[in-house]
Amino acid sequence: MSETAPDERVLVVDFGAQYAQLIARRVREAHVYSEIVPHTITAAELAERAPSALIFSGGPKSVHEPDAPSIDPAIYDAGVPILGICYGAQLLARDLGGTVAKTGRGEYGRTELSVSDATLLFADRDPQQVWMSHFDTIVEPPRGATATASSPETPAAAFEDPNRRIFGVQYHPEVLHTPRGQQLLERFLLDGAGLSATWTMESFIDSAVASIREQVGDGRAICGLSGGVDSAVAAALVHRAIGAQLTCVFVDTGLMRKGEGDQVVETFRRHQGIELIHVRAGERFFERLSGVTEPEEKRKAIGELFIRIFEDASGGIEDARFLVQGTLYPDVIESGTGHAAKIKSHHNVGGLPEDMTFELVEPLRSLFKDEVRAVGSQLGLPDEIVWRQPFPGPGLGVRIIGEVTPERVAILQEADAIVREEIHAAGLERSIWQAFAVLPDIRAVGVMGDERTYGYPVIVRAVTSEDAMTADWARLPYEVLESMASRIINEVPGINRVAYDITSKPPGTIEWE
Ligand code: XMP
Repeated sequence: MSETAPDERVLVVDFGAQYAQLIARRVREAHVYSEIVPHTITAAELAERAPSALIFSGGPKSVHEPDAPSIDPAIYDAGVPILGICYGAQLLARDLGGTVAKTGRGEYGRTELSVSDATLLFADRDPQQVWMSHFDTIVEPPRGATATASSPETPAAAFEDPNRRIFGVQYHPEVLHTPRGQQLLERFLLDGAGLSATWTMESFIDSAVASIREQVGDGRAICGLSGGVDSAVAAALVHRAIGAQLTCVFVDTGLMRKGEGDQVVETFRRHQGIELIHVRAGERFFERLSGVTEPEEKRKAIGELFIRIFEDASGGIEDARFLVQGTLYPDVIESGTGHAAKIKSHHNVGGLPEDMTFELVEPLRSLFKDEVRAVGSQLGLPDEIVWRQPFPGPGLGVRIIGEVTPERVAILQEADAIVREEIHAAGLERSIWQAFAVLPDIRAVGVMGDERTYGYPVIVRAVTSEDAMTADWARLPYEVLESMASRIINEVPGINRVAYDITSKPPGTIEWE
C-alpha cells in the first residue's frame, strides 16, 4: 500500500470522542500531518510511529469510573509534547499528579474563559468564548504545570508546563463555537511542540508520487473510474507518478447523470492524456434490470454486472498487477471500528470480488474529502469533477423507484440536470452536500393549458451534511424551489408535479433506495 510519511506527524489519541476526526482535520489545517490512534496503543507501538506531538481527545466517560479509558503510562516518559483536550486534559491531571474532582456540576455549551496571563497557549489576557462539554473538574493541574485560565466551574480550565511540554484545556478548541480554538491549537503545535508546519497539498503530492513509483516499479496498474471525485483524483495522482503504465477503465452503466459519461472521457482521455478503456454498457444494464423493482435486488444486480464487465475489460490489460482505489481516510477509520447495522448494500467502483489478485494502490488513504478536492485541483482536474457531489455506485438506478428503463432514466436525467443547474445558479453548490431528483412510480392528475394531464411527479431531494452519516434537509430558498419546479414541469415531458423531500437522516436515508 502506498503511504506517505511526512517528517512531522501529530497523533490524535482517541478516547472515544465524537471529535477525534475533527481534531485531526484542524491539525492538518495548521499544515501539520495528523492521524488518529486508539488509546490502547502501547508506548512501543507509539514510538514506532515517531510522533512529533500527541493530542489526547475528549471522551464520554469520567476518569473516576473503573473502566475509564486510560493510556500506557510509559508514554509519558517518551518526552513527546502532549495537549489534552477535555477528557484528555483530565486524564493528564489525574495521571501526572493533579486533581480531578467529582463536583457533580458540569459545564455545557458556550462558556466564558478567563485567561490569567499571556502565555505560550494564549496570546493575550482577553476573555474568550469557549465551548465546554464536561462533568468532573480539574482543580489541580499536573505537578509542575500552572493553571493559566479558568471558567466559572473549573479552576484549571487550561494548564501549561512548557518545560515538560505538557498542556491541557478543559474546553474544545477544535469546534467552531470556540472562535479562537484554531489559534490555540497552532500555538501548541508551533510554540509548544516546536513544529515547522510545512505539510501542504504540494508536499503531499510530491511524497505520494514518490511512494507510488516505489510501490509499482515498472509494473502496470489499472483504475476503475466512476466519474466521482475520489477515483478521479486517485487516477490523476497515479498517472502523474507512473504515466503510461496506468490504464483506466470506465464502465458506463447508462445510469449516470446527464452528460456525465462524455465528460469523464473528455477529461481523462483528452485533458489528462490517460489511457482509457470506455465500455458503453447501458444496454446490458437495462436488459439485466428489466422487471427488477426491489431495491436490494436492484443494487445487487447492478453491482454484480458492473464487476463482471470491469473484469472483462481489465482482463484485456496484460500483466496488470496493481489496482488503484480511491479509498479515503474516513473509510480507513470506519473499517477499524465495530459493525453498524446494514442499511443498504453499497456498491463502489472497485468493490471487487475477493478472488481478484491485484495488489492495491491507495494513494488517498490518509486524506479527508476536502483534502482530496484540493489535491484534484492541484493536479489540474476541472471544478466539475473536483466539486462533484457524491453519487452512488448504482447511479440513477436507486433514484428510480420501480423498474429502471431507458425512457425513465432519460426523464430523470433531464429533471436532475435542472435541479443541479438551479443549485449552481443560486451559488449553493458548495454549501449543499447533494441535490438531485428522484422519479417515483406513481402518477398524478394535473391541468396544463386547459387539458387534463396524468403524469409523473418528480421529487427533489437536497441535503446538507458533513459526512453523509447524518444529514439535514436543505432549507432551499423558495425562489430556488420555484424555478426548479417550473422549469422541470415546462421542460421535461411527462412530468406534471414537483415535490420537495423534507426528511432528514435519520430517519430517512439520503437516497430513496
Ligand atoms: P444513504 O442513502 O445511505 O447514502 O443515506 C449515504 C451516502 O452514500 C451515497 N451512496 C452510495 N455511495 N455506493 C456509493 O459509493 C453506493 O452504493 C451508495 N449508496 C448511497 C449517497 O449518495 C450518500 O452520499
